[in-house]
Amino acid sequence: MKRDLTTRDFWDQRNQSRSIRASGLRMLLGDAFEGTRAEVWERLLARTCSAPGNILELGCAPGRILKRLAEVAPQHHYHGLDMSAPGLEACRSLLQEAGIHAELYEGDVWTAELPRKFDVVVSAGLIEHFSDLRGIVLRHAYYARPGGWVVVTVPNWARPGINRLITVTLRPNTFETHNAEAMEPENLKSTFESAGLLDVEAGEAGGAWLTTVAASLTVKARLAQAFARAWNLGLVIVPPLRRLWGGLVWAIGRVPEEAER
Ligand SMILES: C[S@@+](CC[C@H](N)C(=O)[O-])C[C@H]1O[C@@H](n2cnc3c(N)ncnc32)[C@H](O)[C@@H]1O
Repeated sequence: MKRDLTTRDFWDQRNQSRSIRASGLRMLLGDAFEGTRAEVWERLLARTCSAPGNILELGCAPGRILKRLAEVAPQHHYHGLDMSAPGLEACRSLLQEAGIHAELYEGDVWTAELPRKFDVVVSAGLIEHFSDLRGIVLRHAYYARPGGWVVVTVPNWARPGINRLITVTLRPNTFETHNAEAMEPENLKSTFESAGLLDVEAGEAGGAWLTTVAASLTVKARLAQAFARAWNLGLVIVPPLRRLWGGLVWAIGRVPEEAER
């Protein structure tokens, strides 16, 4: 079975063409979205690493998550691994602009060796790009120290139906490059447990935001995009609506100490 649902070229192209600036309404929506996502990460890091530690993000380009982590939990030392050279370049500039120091490594998560083990290994938007979910969770655990934590988040574009419908209208090929099985908290929980992680928890968080990113602007896509923007504006105006579903699926698990193996 094909294990990787994407290729290095796919990411190099995305990381070269990606714009991470916005203005006006998009900035307002972006800030509200960012606020809910930052809260999720603040909670996940507080649950897994209270003392200053070394945190590694797998698939870290173009650096938005590392930036978010360093802003919500500046006491930690951050590291990032990615296989895309242009992506790492974008990551480096984003962090430099924000005055954040992080060690960045270029390599493939399936094979890369890093100079140390980490207190927490996180990824955000990585594991759903593989068909072998247990294998990729095991790779996270490989980079963590005994007793360290694995923290994974996956964007939920699969549930409920309206969320999936908008996503596939805007980007018809989404589920060719994304494994929807990773978007179910129960699946993530059992995958973490089957990878030998302890104290596993999983859930949904991060607000019922709809994606507005389109692959091409057909009439159908423009209509879906207008609907998604109006919906997201509704979430800014009436925050309790954000609880309708979780735009992020998350899971945490602890790597066994030597004595627990
Ligand atoms: C959706 S992006 C992650 C976004 C990132 N967390 C952020 O917002 O800052 C997925 C990243 O994983 C990287 N990636 C995919 N497969 C990889 C692999 N086998 N080894 C290392 N990095 C990989 C891609 O190059 C891409 O930069």
